[in-house]
Amino acid sequence: MHASRTGRRALLFCAMIFPALAAAQRVEISIDASKSGPTISRNLFGQFAEHLGHGIYEGIWVGPDSKIPNTRGIRNDVVAALKAIKVPNVRWPGGCFADEYHWRQGIGAQRAVTLNPNWGGVIEPNTFGTNEFMDFIDQIGSEAYVSVNLGSGTPQEAAEWFEYMTTAQPTTLEKERAANGHPAPYKVEFLGLGNESWDCGGNMTPEYYLSQAKIYSHFVRNFNPGQQSKDQMLKIAVGPGGDGPRWNDWTETVMKAYQQHTWSWDINGLSMHSYTVVKWPPAYKSVGFGETEYAEILKSTLEMDDLIKKHSAIMDKYDPEKKVALVVDEWGGWYAPLPGSNPGFLVQQNSLRDAILAALNLNIFARHGDRVRMSNIAQMINVLQAMILTDKDKMVLTPTYYVYKMYLPFQDSTSVPVTFDAGTYRQGDISLPRVDAVAAKGKDGKLWVEVTNVDPNQAAEVELKLAGVTAKSATGQTLSAPKVDSVNTLEAPNGVVPKAVSAEAEGGKLTLKLEPKSVTVVAVE
Ligand code: AHR
Repeated sequence: MHASRTGRRALLFCAMIFPALAAAQRVEISIDASKSGPTISRNLFGQFAEHLGHGIYEGIWVGPDSKIPNTRGIRNDVVAALKAIKVPNVRWPGGCFADEYHWRQGIGAQRAVTLNPNWGGVIEPNTFGTNEFMDFIDQIGSEAYVSVNLGSGTPQEAAEWFEYMTTAQPTTLEKERAANGHPAPYKVEFLGLGNESWDCGGNMTPEYYLSQAKIYSHFVRNFNPGQQSKDQMLKIAVGPGGDGPRWNDWTETVMKAYQQHTWSWDINGLSMHSYTVVKWPPAYKSVGFGETEYAEILKSTLEMDDLIKKHSAIMDKYDPEKKVALVVDEWGGWYAPLPGSNPGFLVQQNSLRDAILAALNLNIFARHGDRVRMSNIAQMINVLQAMILTDKDKMVLTPTYYVYKMYLPFQDSTSVPVTFDAGTYRQGDISLPRVDAVAAKGKDGKLWVEVTNVDPNQAAEVELKLAGVTAKSATGQTLSAPKVDSVNTLEAPNGVVPKAVSAEAEGGKLTLKLEPKSVTVVAVE
C-alpha cells in the first residue's frame, strides 16, 4: 500500500514537473523520399529592412566613427549574425518609406537631412543610402531587392536611380557612382514597383496603379552587363493586402493585364502583404502573455494558407504556367509597441510563439512553393518580428532568428510529399492542428524533416514512416523554452536557443520525441 502510494506520488510529481512526459501524443508522419514536389526557393527566407525606427540606424548603420566595431559604418556583429543565416535577399528602403524616398538625398559627400513622416516624424539623416545599402548587401552576401518610389516620385527619378546603380557605360551617372566609390555596376536582383500603392503608397485604384506600374516596368531598366541574359532582374508589382472582394479585385486586375501584356512591360512577381495582428491597432502583447493569446495568434497566422490559395487561384486563371511568383514580401507578427518605446518605431519583443509562428508560415510557403517563390519577413532588425534586437553596442538573437538558422538546409531544396494526421490542440474554443511538418531533399543530398509541435502542454512522439530511403538515425536541432512567451534579452540571451536532438531507428522504427511548443529540424541518415 505504502509503496504504491509513494509510486503514485512520484508519478504525480513527474507529471507536474514534466507534463510532457506524462502524456506524449503519438503522431505518424509518412514521407515518400522517392517523390518530389516544388523547389523551396532560398528566396523564401528573405528579409525586409525599412528606414523605420532602429531598423537601419543603430541596427545596421552606426557610422564609421562609431566606437561600435564596424566596417565602413556597418556594424560587424550584425553582419556576422546575418551571414550565418545566409540571407538570400533584402528588401529596401521600405515599406511606406519607399514611396517618399528620393535616392539623390542619400548619395555623395553631402547628404540631405529630411524627415520620416510615416514613422514617428523623426529626422532622416540619409547617411545610409544606396552605396551603404549595397555595401551592406555585399558584406552579408545577399542580393538587393530595391523598391522604387512610385507614389511621390517620377518614372524619370526611378529610371535614373537604376542607371546610377547598374550601368557600366561611361555616362554622367556612372561617373558619379564611381566618384562615390563604386566604379563597378551594382547588381540589383529584384525591383519593387512601389509599395502598398492601395494605401500608404498613394491610395490608388488597381486600374490607376496598373497604368503607373506599366510605365515604371518599361522605363526602370537594369543595365548591368551581367544581368542581360541569365540572372535578369525580376520585377515585382504591388499585389493584395488581404482577403475579400477589394483584394481579389486587385489581384484580378493586375493578373488580367499581365495575361495580355506586350513586349514593353512585364512583371515576374506579385507582392502580397499579410501580418498576423488579430486586432487593429495592434494590441496583443509581444511578451507577458498566456496560452489564450498564444493560441489566438497562431490560429490567425494559419489564415496565411487560405489567403495564398485564394490569390493563387486568381493568378492560375491568367497565368496557368505560374510564371509570376506570389511574393509575400511583408509578413510576421505585429503586436503592441513595447511600453516606453516610440510607437512609430514598431518595437516589440520576440518570443517562442514567434518562432512557432515563423515555422508555420515557412511551411505554408514551402507547400505552395510552385507559386510562392519569395517572402520577406518584417522586419530584419529592431522592428516588428525581428531576427536581431540591438541596444547600443549589444545585440541579441531572437527565437525567430534561430528558426531561420535551423531552416538553412531547406534553402533551394526539393520538397518531398509528407502526410500525417495532425491531431488537434484545443485552448478554450480555439482548435489548432497539433503538429505541422515539411520534408525536403537538401542540396547536400540529405533528407531533411521539420516538425512543429504546436501544443504547449503535450510532448509528441513522432514516428517517421519513410519510403524511398532506409533510415538509421535522425540528427538535428530543436527549439523550445519553458513558456510560450519565453524570450531572449540582452541580459539573458539564451532563453530560447536550439539544442541538439537525435534518434536511432529501433526495430525498423524511427521515433522523434518532441517537446511541447517546439520547432525541430533533423536530417535523416
Ligand atoms: O512593415 C511596416 C509597414 O507595414 C510597411 O512600411 C508597410 O508597407 C506596411 O503597411
